[in-house]
Amino acid sequence: MADSFKLDLAVRPRRLRRNASVRALVEETVLRPADFIAPLFVVDGKGAPEPIGSMPGVSRLNIVDLVKECRALAKLGVPAVALFPKLDANYKDDSGSAALHEDALILRAVRAVKKALPELVVMTDIALDPYTTHGHDGLLTAEGKDVANDATVAVLVKMAVLHARAGVDFVAPSDMMDGRIGAIRAGLDAAGFTNTAIMAYSSKFASAYYGPFRDAVGSAKAAGTHALDKRTYQLNPANRREAVVEALLDEAEGADVLMVKPAGAYLDIIREVREATKKPLAAYQVSGEYAQIQAAAQLGWLDLARVRHESLLAIKRAGADMILTYFAKEMAAELGK
Ligand code: PBG
Repeated sequence: MADSFKLDLAVRPRRLRRNASVRALVEETVLRPADFIAPLFVVDGKGAPEPIGSMPGVSRLNIVDLVKECRALAKLGVPAVALFPKLDANYKDDSGSAALHEDALILRAVRAVKKALPELVVMTDIALDPYTTHGHDGLLTAEGKDVANDATVAVLVKMAVLHARAGVDFVAPSDMMDGRIGAIRAGLDAAGFTNTAIMAYSSKFASAYYGPFRDAVGSAKAAGTHALDKRTYQLNPANRREAVVEALLDEAEGADVLMVKPAGAYLDIIREVREATKKPLAAYQVSGEYAQIQAAAQLGWLDLARVRHESLLAIKRAGADMILTYFAKEMAAELGK
């Protein structure tokens, strides 16, 4: 009965989905370990890994454990790591002065990783939030009602030069101050670091998806309790055109790689920026995206392995050339099987 009724169809798209081999031939997007950049959190001292409650499977690591983790990632074919320091509260102040310490935790971490694994690409965030008591990415004005854009940029340039001297391959300004890419490029070049690249967090939105990260580095204050939140510098989630303007501006100022962040809820922005520029494009699947998937998986409501794969495939399909994701290690292990 079911087989006797035939439509007269010239085009039957299902012919190309008949079995795994045909599907493989027509597959348009493929994830590989080299697509991923692993964000890692580092702490001072010799303590055991410190699990981050809102990011199951992610811990802050001391420098020795960090190097071990980097080695494991490199072995799995992950080409790059992005390092984030968690400072003790007593090292923080209003101006984030610890960001310019010659022996800052992040600089020691970079040196240790580059010494052990010279081929692994190491990136560091350029922004003041791990260092300021208020958790903002920049210095505040005297009245504390705004970030002091230009004075912040001057500090970020110094910070970028320190990181370049420690050996990072990319500095990644995540602060969203106006003019920082051009100033950092000029500062790096003047200091002789013409080969240090810039990955610009160019289209970075004022997103609620950063919550778990702020727990991880202890910058949560600026998220809500402080009189000023990050909406005077990070993009309005409502704005598509403005996100492209920011990306093109960073390109013009000398960024080597552009970024859209967060990723999953901003796939349209990834596509839009992809089409607006020829530059390599990164996307950041942020802490809240990770936490969401982990939480649903823990409740038994979603299949962890399948959803993380699909979420990353979607980001690549939207146009990202590389993806920062807390799933980097598991994904690389799975893809290498
Ligand atoms: C800080 C920074 C943030 C993230 C990366 N760098 C948070 C923020 O802007 O408050 C978020 C990453 C994540 O949520 O995984 N400049």
